Amino acid sequence: MVAAPVNLERQTAPDLRRSSADLAKELRKLATERNAVILAHNYQVPELQDVADFVGDSLGLSYQAAKTGADVILFCGVHFMAETAKIINPSKRVLLPDLEAGCSLSDSCPPEKLAEFLKQHADKNYYVIAYINCSAGVKAQSDIICTSGNADKMVKSAPPDRNILFVPDQNLGAWVMERTGRKMDLWQGNCYVHVEFTARSISRIREEYPNAPVVAHPECTYAVRMLADEVCSTEKMVAFCKNSSAKEIIVVTEAGILHRLKKEIPDKMFIPGPTENCFCGECRYMKKNTLEKAYDALLNMEPEIMLSEEVRARAEVPILRMLELSR
Ligand code: 13P
Ligand code: SF4
Repeated sequence: MVAAPVNLERQTAPDLRRSSADLAKELRKLATERNAVILAHNYQVPELQDVADFVGDSLGLSYQAAKTGADVILFCGVHFMAETAKIINPSKRVLLPDLEAGCSLSDSCPPEKLAEFLKQHADKNYYVIAYINCSAGVKAQSDIICTSGNADKMVKSAPPDRNILFVPDQNLGAWVMERTGRKMDLWQGNCYVHVEFTARSISRIREEYPNAPVVAHPECTYAVRMLADEVCSTEKMVAFCKNSSAKEIIVVTEAGILHRLKKEIPDKMFIPGPTENCFCGECRYMKKNTLEKAYDALLNMEPEIMLSEEVRARAEVPILRMLELSR
């Protein structure tokens, strides 16, 4: 008997493209059918934040990924975030709407370069602390992972007699050094979005809104952090804005967070921190994901995050250490 021909073409849902409200409804339906959880980072486009089961920062999303009972994780964020979810959930299928949703910061520390550096400086016997914005290959060479939400605690937990190498963000690393007093050698990487905010651009907006406090992400440069009233992770920014008595707040991070702030705190005004070159403050990688791509990913069960078991198993150890310590 000859088997019926199978249509191997990737499916899309053209009839659903008319309205994003319909598409969001269909995506929720599909998520139930597939027993999938939808996680979205605070920088995702509004439609993805609105359709997600959970919206948060890297730390919150890692906890959600660790505790989910779903079979599938549709991760609306960038590659290293979905990869982290896969590392701690090897038996689950982890989907990323667009595999090109990368990260300039993660790219600034290729695993081979780190391996070479550690070999060249073997005499230092480094304790490696990796900011979560890095690849599985870098995590696999690290002793502990941290996020912007728990970096102080992770650095303080490092053995006092060891030299620390902090990768890949030099700005976040410098910020944690200031706060903990712990000396660390810093990998010279940075986020292309956050370094676009400058002391001049932030001073100008401060003059325009003299009563508005400035809240900035620790990936910003030292000069910008010095002008901020609060420096914290995106999740802590939401809490800061909720708790502040100010009615106007200048927010110095990727612009996607403004949607969540306006939605959860409608009675306040949020002023996006301007950049030096009128650059829009949007991360081109975060914006690769769309509602359509998220729908198609769950419909076709791809693009899927795949990892070699050897790297995954080694990368899992420092992530679990972080999750355990940061509780
Ligand atoms: P948060 O963990 O603070 O959300 O930061 C993630 C990120 O990519 C910042 O650019
Ligand atoms: Fe990476 Fe910067 Fe985009 Fe965050 S905002 S994902 S650090 S490039």
